[in-house]
Amino acid sequence: MKIKNRLESIIAQSLHSLSLPNDKVIVSEASKIEFGDYQFNGMMAIAKKMKTNPRELALLVMNNIKDDEMIAKMEVAGAGFINIWLKDNFLSSNINILLNDDRLGVAKSLKTQRVVLDYSSPNMGKQMHVGHLRSTIIGDALGNLFEFLGDEVIRQNHIGDWGTQFGMLIAYLEENKTSSNSSLSDLESFYQNAKKRFAEDEAFANKSRENVVKLQAKEEHALKLWDEFIDTSLHHCEYVYDKLGVNLKREDIRGESFYNDDLPVLLEDLDKLNLLTQSQGASCVFLNENLPPVIVKKSDGAYLYATTDLSALRYRTKQLNASRICYVADSRQAEHFKQIFEVAQKASFVEEQTRLEHIGFGMVMDKSGKPFKSRDGGTVKLIDLLDEAILRAGESIKKRDEYSEVELQNIASIVGIGAVKYADLSLHRESNYMFDWNKMLSFEGNTALYIQYAYARINSILERFDGKLDGNVLIGDELEHRLALMLLRFEDVLLKASLEAMPHVISSYLYDLVTLFMKFYENNPILKDGIQKDVKMSRLILSFATANIIKKALKILGIKVANKI
Ligand code: ARG
Repeated sequence: MKIKNRLESIIAQSLHSLSLPNDKVIVSEASKIEFGDYQFNGMMAIAKKMKTNPRELALLVMNNIKDDEMIAKMEVAGAGFINIWLKDNFLSSNINILLNDDRLGVAKSLKTQRVVLDYSSPNMGKQMHVGHLRSTIIGDALGNLFEFLGDEVIRQNHIGDWGTQFGMLIAYLEENKTSSNSSLSDLESFYQNAKKRFAEDEAFANKSRENVVKLQAKEEHALKLWDEFIDTSLHHCEYVYDKLGVNLKREDIRGESFYNDDLPVLLEDLDKLNLLTQSQGASCVFLNENLPPVIVKKSDGAYLYATTDLSALRYRTKQLNASRICYVADSRQAEHFKQIFEVAQKASFVEEQTRLEHIGFGMVMDKSGKPFKSRDGGTVKLIDLLDEAILRAGESIKKRDEYSEVELQNIASIVGIGAVKYADLSLHRESNYMFDWNKMLSFEGNTALYIQYAYARINSILERFDGKLDGNVLIGDELEHRLALMLLRFEDVLLKASLEAMPHVISSYLYDLVTLFMKFYENNPILKDGIQKDVKMSRLILSFATANIIKKALKILGIKVANKI
C-alpha cells in the first residue's frame, strides 16, 4: 500500500484548508525511532515563504490534521518538523493483504506507460564480458520491476552485429570451416586469430575488405556466412542468459544491423533539418558548447555507433511508441548518450514528454581495485564465472546440512547465481563494484545468502507449525510495530526503485527487513511452549508475510529462493 502518499495528502489537506502552499508535500521515513515512523520537514520552507515562525505554523498545521484511520500521534520537533506515529491497529488490519494476494497489496499503475528497455546488448564478434553481465542483470531486474508495477516493457537487445570487423570474421570463418582448432566455441580466441591473420596476410586482409563491401551490398553468400556467425555467437549469449535465468528471448533482439537501411535516410532527414555540418569530409551535428559534436558519417562514408543509436531512438519513439526509453550501459558511455539524446531532441525524434534515460553502471574490479580480468590477463568468460559461482556455493552450503546430490545441485545453483546477481544489485549501480567471492557467498552482511537463508528459516518455522494460518496480527511491542510497518512499505519501496531506476533500493530494503525480522524472531519466540495461542498466530502471520515479501522482492530482482538451505 502507498503509505507515504496517503500521509502526504493528509498533510496537504491540512495545509490547503489553512490556505497555505501545499503543492509539493513530501513525507519521509523518520531517521530515528525517537522521531516516530514518518517525518514531514517541509514546514520550514513554507514558513519562510509566509514570513512566519515555523514551529508555530507547524503546530497550527498539525492541530488541523484530520485523520482517524492512520495516525496515532504527532509531535512538533526541532525547528518545525512534524513527527508522525502510525496506529498499531492500522498496521495490523492491513497485514492480511500480504497473505493471500499475489500482488501483496501493490497496485498496478493506472496509467500504463510503454517502456523500451535496452539492455545486455553484447557485441557479436567477441565473448560477452563482465560489463555485459552487469547490464544484463540490472536491465533484467528493472524489466521485472516496471512490469510488476504495470508498465508495458519492450526489451531491446541492441547487439553489435554490424561493422567492418565482420568482413574479417566471416573471412576467417570460411577459411576454417572444416578445421576444428579454430572453432567458434571460443569466440575470444576466434577473434584474436582472425585479427592476427588480418595483420599478417595481405590476401586475407583484402578478402576481409571485399567481404565488407559484399555485406553492404547484401550479397547472398556473405550474408549467409554472417548469419551463421551471428547465430553461433547468440547461442553463447543464450547459454549465459539461461544460466542466469534472464528474460531475454530471440524476439527481443534488434541489433545494429536492423537499422542499416535507415542510416542514409536518417542523414537526409538531419540534413533537411539543417542540422548537418561538413567538417573535413565528415558529417557532424554540432551541439551546445558543453558537448563535442557527433560525427554521423565519416569521410570514408562509414556510419558510426552514434548514427545507429539515433536511428534506433527514432524507431523506438515513432514505431514502438515508447514514452520512457532506458539504456542500461556502462557509465563510461554517458557522453555518448547525452549527445544522442540532444540530437534526437533537436531533430524532434522524441516528444517533449518522452523520458530518455541512460542507466549507467560502474566497472567490475578485482579485490585489488584493478579491472576484473582472468588469471592470464584476458577477459573472464562469463560461463566459467557462473559455473564457479555454483561450485563455490555448493561447497559452502554442503558443510551445513545433509543434502541429496540433486538437492545440492539445485540449491547451489539458486545460491550461486543469486550471489552473483545480488552482489551487483545491492550496490548503487553507478559505483564500481569489487568482485569478491568470499563476500558475495557469505551468510552475513547484505548478501543474497543472508536473505535466502532467512526465507528458508521462516519456511521451516511454518513447516514445523503445520496448521492453518487463521487469526489477526496483534501488535504487542515496538519490534512488531516496526516489522509490520516495514512489510507494508513494500509498495513505496518499489515505486521509488522504479522512479530512480535503482534496484539497490529494493535490496537495501530487503536487508533492513531481514535484519529486523531476525531481531523480532530472537525477542518474540514463536513456537516455544507456553506462548498464548493468539500471540503465536499473530507472530506466525508476521513471519509468513515476511517470507512472502522476501520471495516477491527477490523474484523482481531475478533471484530465486530455496525452501531449505
Ligand atoms: N554494444 C554496446 C557495448 O557493448 C552496448 C550497447 C548499448 N545500447 C545502445 N543502444 N547503445 O558497449
